[in-house]
Amino acid sequence: MSNQDPLVVFTPSGKRGRFPVGTPVLTAARQLGVDLDSVCGGRGICSKCQITPGYGEFSKHGVTARDGALSDWNALEARYDEKRGLKQGRRLGCQAKVQGDIVIDVPPESQVHRQVVRKAASARVIEMDPATRLYYIVVDEPDMHTPTGDLERVARALKDQWEIDKITCEFPVLTQLQTTLRKGKWAITVALHKTSATATPSIIAAWPGLHEKGLYGLAIDLGSTTVAAHLTNLDTGEVVASSGIMNPQIRFGEDLMSRVSYAMMNPGGDHEMTRAVRDAINTLAEEIAKEAGIETNLILETVFVCNPVMHHLLLGIDPVELGQAPFALATSDHLNLTARDLDLTTLPASAQIYLLPCIAGHVGADAAAVALSEQPGKSDDLVLIVDVGTNAEILLGNTSRVLACSSPTGPAFEGAQISSGQRAAPGAIEAIRIDPVTREPRFRVIGCDKWSDEDGFWDETAASGITGICGSGIIEAVAELRIAGLLDPSGLIGSAAQTGTDRCFAEGRTNAYLIHDATAEGGPRITVTQGDIRAIQLAKSALYAGARLLMDEMGVDVVDRVVLAGAFGAHISAKHAMVLGMIPDVPLDKVSSAGNAAGTGARIALCNLAARAEIERTVRQITKVETAIEPRFQEHFVAANAIPHATDPFPELGKVVTLPVVGFNTQGDGSDGGRVRRRKRG
Ligand code: FES
Repeated sequence: MSNQDPLVVFTPSGKRGRFPVGTPVLTAARQLGVDLDSVCGGRGICSKCQITPGYGEFSKHGVTARDGALSDWNALEARYDEKRGLKQGRRLGCQAKVQGDIVIDVPPESQVHRQVVRKAASARVIEMDPATRLYYIVVDEPDMHTPTGDLERVARALKDQWEIDKITCEFPVLTQLQTTLRKGKWAITVALHKTSATATPSIIAAWPGLHEKGLYGLAIDLGSTTVAAHLTNLDTGEVVASSGIMNPQIRFGEDLMSRVSYAMMNPGGDHEMTRAVRDAINTLAEEIAKEAGIETNLILETVFVCNPVMHHLLLGIDPVELGQAPFALATSDHLNLTARDLDLTTLPASAQIYLLPCIAGHVGADAAAVALSEQPGKSDDLVLIVDVGTNAEILLGNTSRVLACSSPTGPAFEGAQISSGQRAAPGAIEAIRIDPVTREPRFRVIGCDKWSDEDGFWDETAASGITGICGSGIIEAVAELRIAGLLDPSGLIGSAAQTGTDRCFAEGRTNAYLIHDATAEGGPRITVTQGDIRAIQLAKSALYAGARLLMDEMGVDVVDRVVLAGAFGAHISAKHAMVLGMIPDVPLDKVSSAGNAAGTGARIALCNLAARAEIERTVRQITKVETAIEPRFQEHFVAANAIPHATDPFPELGKVVTLPVVGFNTQGDGSDGGRVRRRKRG
């Protein structure tokens, strides 16, 4: 190029350079390292390279672009426009050639590394850097005089047409390669997958001709109670469908340790659980693809995040070692596998599976995913992140250090083991307020924005009914009972006589509180029982004790901010979580919600290869704290049984709400009313 050559400036990158007249815009972009997509390699058939030329005076760039700065439309562009339609002002970058100085805008949909717009406001945006990309190639036909295999000629085409030096091919793809090549008349699209930026790419799928149906990936959060999946377009990063199912392993044990015991006590029990979860994932993949209207053979990647026990059971590894000290994992490293390794028969056999690394024996890939999504190690202030689920993942850190632990909260926060508990679904009470004077409740259910004392509530909920109470609802219910003086700090519900409301009624030797009686309409009687309070106390004590343990380790008594994550983290009210004593005392405006951070971490890893390398590096720097063998965990646990807490002061909470001083004896029979017992682990 010379000083006389036209100047080409690309936006938004600002990259610029001079190119000889007649250079295709795509070629100029490549030479400058501008992020401009292409699948067909400049043949004018994939339309991935669309650009918007800018004409006129661009003083900012020192460029005046005159009419004629790009070559006229050619036949390929005209045909594409006629058949598919090009947006006003767009050109195909591989066809438009530079004739004079010009400013070229690359729209987001033509960028490989585009940013994905996320609905939830959150710590990080997702940038596309897919591990799998499509390449259209024209392959030489076989020649008897220079005999080479079809795969070798495919490799040569990738080298000549895409400068890809070396490839491998997944065996199931190889078995179909000859048919694909002949069907495509020697023009095919291959999907090349890389496990890291420097790894040799592997062909994981091939289609005759230009493949235009796209590529998809699944981000799966494999929890003890639920399995949630996001089907993601690997080109745009858009989530095209989300779905979840209950983890069928629940029938072998509600929490992780009971599943480990099942494997210990029953020969072959681990295989049974592995089969159950793999079957469930196959069903989920089929359902979610159907919902999105795509074929399952387009799902070429799946990323899993899960706790260590689920991790081992998914892989078909007996989790018995995770049930006893020193809690050794079979491997804590990340894993690259294929669908056939895991018998995920709904997916193509060569579909790639990535498991995030585990942090340690009780701190799994789900905690790593939370770290990837929330990045505590990049926070200037000290942040406590709690991912609330059947097992809570807890991270505490800032730029100097990050600590992690997991705590066995049990499934109460997800509405399980609660007398009127249910999953978050239409009809479930998700928010509740109890009037401190009348002690009457009003509530809101999923599927209706109105409160139960507002006009229209009963009409709008007639179809779903009032069916139960979900995780966020039970947290609010227990906290509201405490605020209204119906529950004492030890967690005892008062009797009708003690509280002055007949919503409190005797049930056996303890009392319960009636939220709503739908029996007249054939519905349930929704109550909070003493047993429910105990289950929530166990769960919140485990969570709080885990957090305190990390704070001890860090040598602090307070944290700067708290992030609530987890499937229902988005719905937990900060005030109620603090009244309950789920989280340490911080100003309420310092409590934020990150939604399903583990799921977000899985999506980031699915869409971005560099992020996988980042988390593989980061987990090695996280200090892991083991709760199961730490005596202080038990001390914190016992102190945390009180609501909000027996020993920790909550001055910030005191600025928002005054908790009444009450104390309810049981019937004076010396019973402790089912006082909290220590949760055993293992
Ligand atoms: S690169 Fe495929 S149409 Fe331009």
